[in-house]
Amino acid sequence: MRVYDLIKRKRDGGTLTGEEIRFIIDGYVKGKIPDYQVSALLMAIYFRGMNSRENWDLTQAMIQSGRVLDLSSLSAPKIDKHSTGGVGDKVSLVLAPLAASAGICVPMMAGRGLGHTGGTLDKLAAIRGLRVDLSEAELRDQLKQIGVAIVGQTRDLAPADRRLYTLRDVTATVDCIPLIASSIMSKKLAEGIDGLVLDVKVGSGAFMKTLAQGLKLAREMVEIGRRAGHKVVALLTDMDQPLGRAVGNALEVREALETLRGGGPEDIRKLCVELGAWMMKLGRLVRDLRPARIRLQSLIDDQTALVKFKEMVVHQGGDPAVIDNPELLPVARYQVPVVSRQEGYVSCIQTEVIGNAAMVLGAGRERIESSIDPSVGIMLQKKRGDRVKRGEVLAEIHFNDQTQKQQVTKMIQGAYLFSDRRPPPHPLIQAIVTQKGVRVIRN
Ligand code: URA
Repeated sequence: MRVYDLIKRKRDGGTLTGEEIRFIIDGYVKGKIPDYQVSALLMAIYFRGMNSRENWDLTQAMIQSGRVLDLSSLSAPKIDKHSTGGVGDKVSLVLAPLAASAGICVPMMAGRGLGHTGGTLDKLAAIRGLRVDLSEAELRDQLKQIGVAIVGQTRDLAPADRRLYTLRDVTATVDCIPLIASSIMSKKLAEGIDGLVLDVKVGSGAFMKTLAQGLKLAREMVEIGRRAGHKVVALLTDMDQPLGRAVGNALEVREALETLRGGGPEDIRKLCVELGAWMMKLGRLVRDLRPARIRLQSLIDDQTALVKFKEMVVHQGGDPAVIDNPELLPVARYQVPVVSRQEGYVSCIQTEVIGNAAMVLGAGRERIESSIDPSVGIMLQKKRGDRVKRGEVLAEIHFNDQTQKQQVTKMIQGAYLFSDRRPPPHPLIQAIVTQKGVRVIRN
C-alpha cells in the first residue's frame, strides 16, 4: 500500500477502505508516515469529505491508537456529555454532579479552552488545589465512591487525535465536519461509556455558525455512536449569545454554584435539566423526559447536586471552602462597567467577539501554551431582547491589567447590535438528533 495512491484517490473524490484508513493512522502514530503526507490527505478530506463508513473507520482507528478505559466494574449506567464549545458554557460544572445525584455514573473527560471558547478544565483550575490529572485507578475509585469525576484526557486515550489535531491546527483543516466528528467521538468512545449526550452549539460563538452545519455534524456523530453500538443523542443549542451572564473562569464557577443553589440564569438551569434528562433516558433510569426533568429540578432544589459537587471537589483535592464562600475564588483587581453608546433592543450579541474580549483579558488562551488568569472576565448585564438606554450598563469587565481596558470596552460595545423592535425569541434548544431521526424545534 502506498500513501501517495491513497492521497491521490481521496483528492480525486474516491473513498478509502477501513484497512487503508487503519494503515495511515497506525503509520502516522508510529512515525512511519510523515506530517506532509498526512497534511495532504487531511486537505483532500477537507475538500472531498468522507462517507459515514469512512468516518466510522477513521474513528475506530483513532480509538485503537490508544487504550480504552475499562469501567465495566461499575454497575451504574455510564453516560457522559460533550459540548462542541462555546462562550460562557459552564454547563458541565452543574450537570456532572446533577446527573450523578440522579444515579448516572459520569466519567467526564473535559478539555482546556482554545481561542474564543472556554474549557471546563480551566474553569475548575479556579478552585485552589483541584486535580484533574487522576490516574485510571483513581478515576475508577472515585466513580465507584461518588459517581462523578471531571478530569483531563489521559495521554494514552486516542493519541492519534492529539497528533492529528495539532496538524489540523496548522494546516487550516480544523473546521471540517468528518474530522471534527471523528476527533470528538474517538475521545468519547474511548472513555468506556454506555451513552453520550452531545451539546452541539450553533451560532456566532460556535464552530458551527448555522443550524444546517450543526445538524450535519450532529448526524455524523450520532451515526458514529450507532455504528459503535452506543446510545448517542445530540441537542443543537443556541450559541448566538453567551450562555448565562458570566464569561471567565472564576466568574463562571461562581455562576455554576449559584445554579446549583437553585438560582443562576434561566438558560443555564434549563439546559442543565434538559441535558441531564437525556442522560437519565439514555441510562434507562427513566422512559420519558418529563419525570427526569422533575427529578433533576428537585435534586437542585434540595441541594443534593451542590453537595455532590462538593464531594467531587474534596475527592479531587480542591478547596471545598469556595463552595460555601464563593468570594474565596480569585477576584480581579479592577471591575468597571461598559456602557451603551446606543439605545434600542439588543438584537444580537456577537458571541465570538465577547469570547475574544475575554481572551484579551487573559481568561482564554490564544495558543495552546498560553497561560490563563482565573480571576478575569466579563459579566453581561444585558442579553438579547433586553431594552437598553444610551449610557446604561451593558456589561462589567473584571481585569488586572489597565492597558486592556479601552480595547475590551470597544470590543464589547461593538459586539452588541440593536434594533427598534424587540427581536423574536430564539429557542435555546433548536433541534434534537437521535438515532431515529431529527426534530427541529420552532419557536
Ligand atoms: N473539538 C475536538 O475535540 N475536536 C475537533 O476537531 C474540534 C473540536
